[in-house]
Amino acid sequence: MSATETSISIPAELLPEDGRFGSGPSKVRQEALTSFLDIAPRYLGTSHRQNEVKREVSRLQNGLSELFSLPQEWEILLGNGGSTLFWDAASFNLIDFKSQHLSFGEFSSKFATVVQKAPHLEEPEIISSVPGTCPAADPSNVDVYALTHNETSTGVTATLNRPSKDALTLVDATSAAGAINWDSDQVDCYYFAPQKALASDGGLWLAACSPAAIARIEKLSGGERWTPAGLDLGIALSNSRQNQTYNTPSLATIFLAAEMVEWINASGGLSWADERCRRSSNTIYEWASDRTFAEPFVNQISDRSPVVCTIDFEDVDAGAISRVLRANGIVDTESYRKLGRNQIRVATFPAVEPSDVDALCACLDFVVEALS
Ligand SMILES: Cc1ncc(COP(=O)(O)O)c(C=O)c1O
Repeated sequence: MSATETSISIPAELLPEDGRFGSGPSKVRQEALTSFLDIAPRYLGTSHRQNEVKREVSRLQNGLSELFSLPQEWEILLGNGGSTLFWDAASFNLIDFKSQHLSFGEFSSKFATVVQKAPHLEEPEIISSVPGTCPAADPSNVDVYALTHNETSTGVTATLNRPSKDALTLVDATSAAGAINWDSDQVDCYYFAPQKALASDGGLWLAACSPAAIARIEKLSGGERWTPAGLDLGIALSNSRQNQTYNTPSLATIFLAAEMVEWINASGGLSWADERCRRSSNTIYEWASDRTFAEPFVNQISDRSPVVCTIDFEDVDAGAISRVLRANGIVDTESYRKLGRNQIRVATFPAVEPSDVDALCACLDFVVEALS
């Protein structure tokens, strides 16, 4: 940090109550941590095959079904390894021959690469667009359409419309699940990890699966294709039906995710969370639009993420802003490293208080003024 940066001290009355604005792992609510401390002595350090843990897994599964208003026959699967592992698993047990991928950022492109390298699958169709935009699917002869609900690397949100009824639609909802409305009619598999909008910790994947997705898993898992056991969604399915995971999960991650889902459901459900995130993100986008030195990175207003706000800066070093914020207790506003822009990235997940987003904007004004 330069001497100027080090000397900037944001007045206490401007600071948010909680300075965590990271895009994941993200702010975990204090109330969830307090409940965790209550249950921890009879939960942490106990067998993950016994009722205490099964109850929490079931609470999480039922809570997610309620949160997403899932039809009765949908199921919530879970396993270890986060969304990255789920891509590998999907390449074995959800894609039959060929998939089409919308690639518009780091995460959507990573899944496409997994499939490109899978020797048992045909070359996928990849439809790309430049960072900050979202491409459209092109109905074709594939058995899976894959897209990302919210591109965490760029702050672009996709509209979920099933391209065709003849193929499965798989949605990476890692930074969207629990924060952005979606319609289960348009999707077959909505998968995510809970360290973002669900304000928990990492290491777990969760997937809401339609009957068609379950049927595909059962067909491919029970078929001739060799699948490593840890990636076998058929094994994950039978464990999930018993409120279990195939191997030992992080019990804390499961508990904190269940707490968050329950909190959102009790507060008004997914629409409530969606509205809260839109209010917070609008605060940031309006702040940037009203400044001469800043502007939202995503041009198309309808593509702007309600949970990951990317803001470009001109004539001010965005890296310096993030460094000064961090030194003052406001953390993880740095741009996605590989995007390489003069940018900050601010998460407005449901756990983030809208009043803290107001405070962040006041702090940004203070820091920019001080830096110039
Ligand atoms: C959209 C998206 N997909 C996938 C991932 C990877 O998730 P995990 O780290 O749980 O494997 C991330 C993580 O940032 C993400 O934002």
